[in-house]
Amino acid sequence: MVETPAPGTPAPEPPAVEASGEYGILASGLTKHFGSTPAVDGIDLRVREGEFFGFLGPNGAGKTTTIRMLCGLLRPTAGRVWIAGRELANEPLAVKREIGVLPEEVGLYERLTGREFLEFAGRMHGLDLEETRRRSGDLLELLDLAEARDKLIIDYSMGMKKKTAFAAALIHGPKVMFLDEPFGGIDPISVRAIRDVLRQLTERRTTIFFTTHVMEVAERLCTRVAIINRGRIVGEGGVAELRAKAQAGDRSRGGDSTLEDIFLKLVEARVDEETLSWL
Ligand SMILES: Nc1ncnc2c1ncn2[C@@H]1O[C@H](COP(=O)(O)OP(=O)(O)OP(=O)(O)O)[C@@H](O)[C@H]1O
Ligand SMILES: [Mg+2]
Repeated sequence: MVETPAPGTPAPEPPAVEASGEYGILASGLTKHFGSTPAVDGIDLRVREGEFFGFLGPNGAGKTTTIRMLCGLLRPTAGRVWIAGRELANEPLAVKREIGVLPEEVGLYERLTGREFLEFAGRMHGLDLEETRRRSGDLLELLDLAEARDKLIIDYSMGMKKKTAFAAALIHGPKVMFLDEPFGGIDPISVRAIRDVLRQLTERRTTIFFTTHVMEVAERLCTRVAIINRGRIVGEGGVAELRAKAQAGDRSRGGDSTLEDIFLKLVEARVDEETLSWL
């Protein structure tokens, strides 16, 4: 069902279309209502080509809903999205060819082996058989799945399934990658391998948009981050820039705020000591 915009929702201001090309991801007034509740409430995003962009926020803040709208899996209630210069609503198929998506809950064809699944993903994206096999082999090796490549996915561990989904999202060399919690449940060796791949991709101008709850990961990897809370962006910028902003209102702190301090401050998270008085 397509919901209509809530009364009083302002029409999004479209960015200059000629400017949309410099951005891997551009969104204006992006909104999603489930019933009358806004899960995402009129957010604007500008992610430059080649940027490693972290999208942070507490549980239920609207991260997954935003990603699903940005990659065409969920129709927005309002707002517009451009991916690598193309408007998603006008050119959905062309946009889908340019993107790779690792969803929050990976859905794989579990009756295929890892190798078969990657070959299927590559062929679906129009790669020839030889190139598909070369890339599948490289990815399985890199993600430490080579030994399990002929095992059915249904018999994979959770982390192995996630790594397979990551490889499938990457096999066609997308210009823009959306990764919803890519490191959850992944062992440190594979985390490093995935991080290295993502870094190489940004060097080649691939835009990465990812969510994480691990602030150290965001701090280490991201060129910019946005923090979403209750469907609205409450902070955005480089980590150093956010740190400066957070400290501007709190002169008593030294210059050592971590991204976690900033995050907790911006989402006003606090533990009420009264709540667990029975403990
Ligand atoms: N299909 C749906 N129907 C109704 N409400 C939904 C639906 N999907 C998400 N929501 C609601 O939208 C809000 C945002 O959810 P979302 O999944 O985007 O959060 P998130 O930031 O990804 O959280 P998490 O960190 O737990 O993954 C939540 O209140 C959630 O209950
Ligand atoms: Mg989520």
